Amino acid sequence: MNTLDESQPKSLIEIAYDSELTRQCGAALVDALVEHLGSVQSGEGPVQRWRDPEENISDALQWLETARFSDSQHAVSQFNELTRLSLQRGQNLNHPRCVGHQVPAPLPLVGLFDAITTMTNQVQGVYEMGPWGIAAERAVIEKIGQKIGYQSGEFGGLVTSGGSLGNLTALLAARNEACPWIWNEGSRPQQQSERVGMNVSDEAVSDGATPDGGQAHGDENGTDRHQSVSTTKTGFSPRMPVLVVHTDAHYCIDRAAGVMGIGKSQVLRVPLDNHRRMDVNELERMLVDLTAEEVPIIAVVAVACTTAVGAFDPIDSIADVCSRHRVWLHVDAAHGGAVCLSRRHRHLVHGLERADSVVFDAHKMMFVPAVCALVFYRNKQNRFRAFEQKAPYLFDPSAPDMSEYDNGVVTFECTKRSAALGLWGAMSIFGLDLFEQLVDRVFQVAKQLSEMLENANEFEVVGAPQANIVVFRYLPDTGTSGASKANVPPDESAVKLSQLQLRLRRAMLESGFGYLTQTSLDDEIYLRCTIMNPLTDVSHLAEIIEKLRQLAPVLWGELQELGQDTA
Ligand SMILES: Cc1ncc(COP(=O)(O)O)c(C=O)c1O
Repeated sequence: MNTLDESQPKSLIEIAYDSELTRQCGAALVDALVEHLGSVQSGEGPVQRWRDPEENISDALQWLETARFSDSQHAVSQFNELTRLSLQRGQNLNHPRCVGHQVPAPLPLVGLFDAITTMTNQVQGVYEMGPWGIAAERAVIEKIGQKIGYQSGEFGGLVTSGGSLGNLTALLAARNEACPWIWNEGSRPQQQSERVGMNVSDEAVSDGATPDGGQAHGDENGTDRHQSVSTTKTGFSPRMPVLVVHTDAHYCIDRAAGVMGIGKSQVLRVPLDNHRRMDVNELERMLVDLTAEEVPIIAVVAVACTTAVGAFDPIDSIADVCSRHRVWLHVDAAHGGAVCLSRRHRHLVHGLERADSVVFDAHKMMFVPAVCALVFYRNKQNRFRAFEQKAPYLFDPSAPDMSEYDNGVVTFECTKRSAALGLWGAMSIFGLDLFEQLVDRVFQVAKQLSEMLENANEFEVVGAPQANIVVFRYLPDTGTSGASKANVPPDESAVKLSQLQLRLRRAMLESGFGYLTQTSLDDEIYLRCTIMNPLTDVSHLAEIIEKLRQLAPVLWGELQELGQDTA
């Protein structure tokens, strides 16, 4: 099937698979994409043409309701129109004034590799269904794992659909190690007879427990990692496992706790230090208490870096505490993992190689399109701890060695997109140097933004940025002595100040001029920019600041009037 010859009537199926139709549409698509990206990257046009969601849904539905195939030429022209519409209605992440979420202006060539993946539908459940995609994934895992500092041959990893699923996967492995009975029997307090191979307390043994030699999994020193368990004296559910995190951990950790059935209330939060990092002394105190209470600890979750403000937890010191208490250390490096590729910034994840597991989103600071998340285990055998399944139609018992390469045994997904081919392609073409430059560049631009805001009277910046995330707020001129940082409104106006930030963000979004996000710190709302486009420079930042300056006084005036109306 390789002709658009209309002389013979063809079935819709024949036309849909016609190579000539694909060629014509494909060539037009590449041209349209190149033109679109070129103009967006140069800062032309809006970051987004804001439309009400219902309007968009109704337009999309209209296309489905009027769908009627006439001939191949008409299909090509419709393809072009749909392409144009889709590009026009989307968000322009490649626009240099798009400084919102932690989603990058993706490397264009990676998208082209993705076309191979999607058009030939390489899936990754078993090796034989996507051999090259799996080979590319394994090569990427090997190369980046080495950069984390893991020992070749000892560590292992996998690629999965996003950081949230990656964190759940690693924490399941940790949970199954800490509480091996749960996979089969579900969440319940641990029975004494299950405290086998664990550090069972004398008290518990004299209670009648009989260690029966069940499987225990130690750390690399051969030390048993399980905690001893007996009835607790205070707050925690007796013998129900806990996760130890901090307040700025990403919400997906709470979700993982919910999904794992341990419950959000079993997610314990270590206080933060002055830089919004995990306070290591407080962690030590918490682990001492938990150990005294004989509560099973699934893992300590450190963050590199936090979503809200980009703070890097002190991983090396946290690893010291975890190793003293023989607790699994998981590092959620979904956003900041890529600093291990930068000589200038790698110190921020000092000690990362000591983590039992690490999650690292390539679709954040490796600038590949969503979704491509990497999960690493310091001990490669732990890959097999997260999931258990029997699927005789999938896994071939006559080739047991293949399970080493069958992703289905280590990932939640069964049918899984080949997500790392584009990353492998970009790493092969540009080497890791490109990624070092990307990290260095966006960190540098974030620092510049922070300095520009610091130097402007109307803005208050939350700490110096450690990463490419800048958190700040607009301080209105309250009329006492001109716009000034001294004019932070008194407490009763704090709510209004938060409302101002929300309105400011929405006004910016709906104007299409720029895109930024908001975050909440200690119950107050701030604006938040993440530099995820290496083509953003100080001129674009100056334009955004100027736009905020124009919008804010009007919005603040409106808020004041609202206040008077309701007074
Ligand atoms: C620290 C951190 N962890 C996890 C996630 C979730 O990752 P994903 O959006 O890929 O599911 C994010 C996303 O922003 C994050 O910043």
